[in-house]
Amino acid sequence: MSLLQLRVTSVQAEARDVLRVELEAAGGDELPAFEPGAHLTLHLPGGLQRQYSLAGDWRERRRYVLGVGRAADSRGGSAYVHGSLRIGDELSCSEPANNFRLVDAPRYLFIAGGIGVTPILAMIRWCEAQGRPWQLVYAARSRVRMGFHEELHAHGAKVRFHCDDEAGGPLAVQALLSDTAPQTHVYCCGPAPLMEAVREHGSHLDEDHLHFEWFSAPALEAQAPEGDGFWIDLKRSGASLHVPPGQSVLEVLEANGHEVPFSCREGLCGTCETGVCDGEPEHLDYVYPPAQRPQLRTMLVCVSRARSPRLTLDL
Ligand code: FES
Repeated sequence: MSLLQLRVTSVQAEARDVLRVELEAAGGDELPAFEPGAHLTLHLPGGLQRQYSLAGDWRERRRYVLGVGRAADSRGGSAYVHGSLRIGDELSCSEPANNFRLVDAPRYLFIAGGIGVTPILAMIRWCEAQGRPWQLVYAARSRVRMGFHEELHAHGAKVRFHCDDEAGGPLAVQALLSDTAPQTHVYCCGPAPLMEAVREHGSHLDEDHLHFEWFSAPALEAQAPEGDGFWIDLKRSGASLHVPPGQSVLEVLEANGHEVPFSCREGLCGTCETGVCDGEPEHLDYVYPPAQRPQLRTMLVCVSRARSPRLTLDL
């Protein structure tokens, strides 16, 4: 996949621990188009690759706008952006990709937690341009941590702000979702506890009306032991490899000299997507919507496994 060369044109504090970063093509060209909900994978020094949602206007082709939160447990990505990124720096990044597509719906309820508001901003611009009804509930620990507050405040009653410290606790998700109008599509991006609450209290809604963009993997429930693992047959190279319990398909492929692109290694970004020619994958990622999984002929090999004893991969 070809990489874009981008130059940093602006780095501004949006809120406490939130930066707004603007980028343009290093050669001054038009940038590839993106859809609301899309993200960029930035290639940072030290071989780090990190995904950041595009917050800007999808019609704008001269700049990309990102919101980057400083993660308390940063593995280097947000720490680098907050500590070292400067105007004029050049970065490589992959073309925009979208795991959080806005489907055509009569109305939308957006629920954002903290920096999870960035993809929602792009969605709101689209809804405004198309005249679609929308509402946003934007939660953060405190008002000083709310990036893009001013911009959102201008939308008046369509945006409800919830600050944990002012409200005396986290957002009451159950009450919020209990009277959701029929046909509403709910889009949620934020910390894992918020996403889990929306998944739990939105279970009365159609599964394909709930949309999530995970930026950290939720706590896993204990899984039943897998037995002896499974086999993968590689269609193009002809190799057969055993995937034991406790090792991922990606790790087995790497250990045997097969290069598969990857980024998060947690089933969050979609970078390691690999074609499945035969067999039944067990999808354990946070990218594919549940309703689509039975028809899929691809899998994310960093986390997903097999239901059948063998899988044939398009490698
Ligand atoms: S590397 Fe991100 S989903 Fe597999």
